[in-house]
Amino acid sequence: MSGEMISGAFEPGLEGIVAAETRLSSVDGEAGELIVAGFPVEDIASRASFEEIVYLLWHDALPSVEQLAEFREALAAKRSLPGATMGLLRAAASEKVSVMDALRMAAGTLSLGIPEDDAHEQALALVARFPAIVAAYWRLLRGEEPVDPAPELEHAANYLYMLSGEKPGDNSARALETYLNTVVDHGLNASTFAARVIVSTRSDLVSAITGAIGALKGPLHGGAPGPALDTVFEIGKKVRAEGYLREKLERGERLMGFGHRVYKVRDPRADVLAAAAERLYATEADRKLYELALHVEKTALKLLEEYKPGRRLQTNVEFYTALLLHGLGLPAELFAPTFAVSRVAGWLAHCFEQQESGRIIRPQSAYIGARNRRWIPPEQR
Ligand code: ACO
Repeated sequence: MSGEMISGAFEPGLEGIVAAETRLSSVDGEAGELIVAGFPVEDIASRASFEEIVYLLWHDALPSVEQLAEFREALAAKRSLPGATMGLLRAAASEKVSVMDALRMAAGTLSLGIPEDDAHEQALALVARFPAIVAAYWRLLRGEEPVDPAPELEHAANYLYMLSGEKPGDNSARALETYLNTVVDHGLNASTFAARVIVSTRSDLVSAITGAIGALKGPLHGGAPGPALDTVFEIGKKVRAEGYLREKLERGERLMGFGHRVYKVRDPRADVLAAAAERLYATEADRKLYELALHVEKTALKLLEEYKPGRRLQTNVEFYTALLLHGLGLPAELFAPTFAVSRVAGWLAHCFEQQESGRIIRPQSAYIGARNRRWIPPEQR
């Protein structure tokens, strides 16, 4: 029996529980549909700029030309990292902590110089500085000096520039922008829920985002694209695909990049990213790898149907995320942090919604521990 007055059944993992109302995104796993603030993801992700998408999520409307220019400028003006943030990144690099840990620690420093009650300034600084933190830290880790942001570049292009020190081609910038737009929000996932719980106590945005990074860091949430690409590399040649994948399935192993808890038909984000990868690999990167990946995907889907009939296992977003980000020259260590560079905008939009609702998130627990114990002094136990 419970120590609290329990009014509902215990649902492990809160599965099936509706814990928020949102106008930000709708995920329909049976229809294979993702709507972002009213727009099908396939309509908007490869066409809008990331700045437009952030504006859309925060204001529930696409910006006018003037509003967009103003928003871009406001973000670009906030990109430079404060000295304290850079100092922390240098210290973290000297201990070679993971990029996600460095991002979490550095995100916490973004309260410095911005009043806690200025939510707008905090939100702008968080979105603007995430790419700067990841890029600066990645360079420091490799013994290189960080590259200052280029104010004339848009958000996505500037991220690539700060990573490599070279201005990216239009195709690369567009490919990254499509990725950022595709994964910016996805219902009440674990990190978004964590952020909403934190602001629901009337805590501040920097605290909420720092907590959300912690939730995203876990391999069950942010961590699969690296292994999906490893499979393609290990296969190496089209002729090896079937034997390699069959062996894995025979051993009872899972194929990385396939299957999803929610999507039982093809994840629409996989389609958007597949199309973006095709455009990217057509011009700039290793076409052979792209074709190998397509072959691996086709073979995997055929074998999953054979070995797991009726389980409706489809390609998930991680498979094409890996291919696209690899094509942009990003190493696997940057896949999850780059996901955060996008998702921070969605987290913040959810925080704004949660602040409007004003109600603290406070579920119940069912007590299953002992009762009627009595304390006795240590020497009598
Ligand atoms: N390869 C082979 N078999 C699989 C796979 C897979 N990738 N995914 C599920 N199955 C099988 C399971 O073994 C199980 O088989 P059984 O009925 O014979 O026991 C059946 O399909 C159902 O599996 P569940 O574990 O119930 O599916 P669930 O919805 O819990 O899992 C998950 C979803 C965790 C994503 C799973 O598909 C998986 O492990 N995929 C591989 C890892 C991966 O790609 N993760 C990234 C997901 S995308 C994201 O998180 C944004």
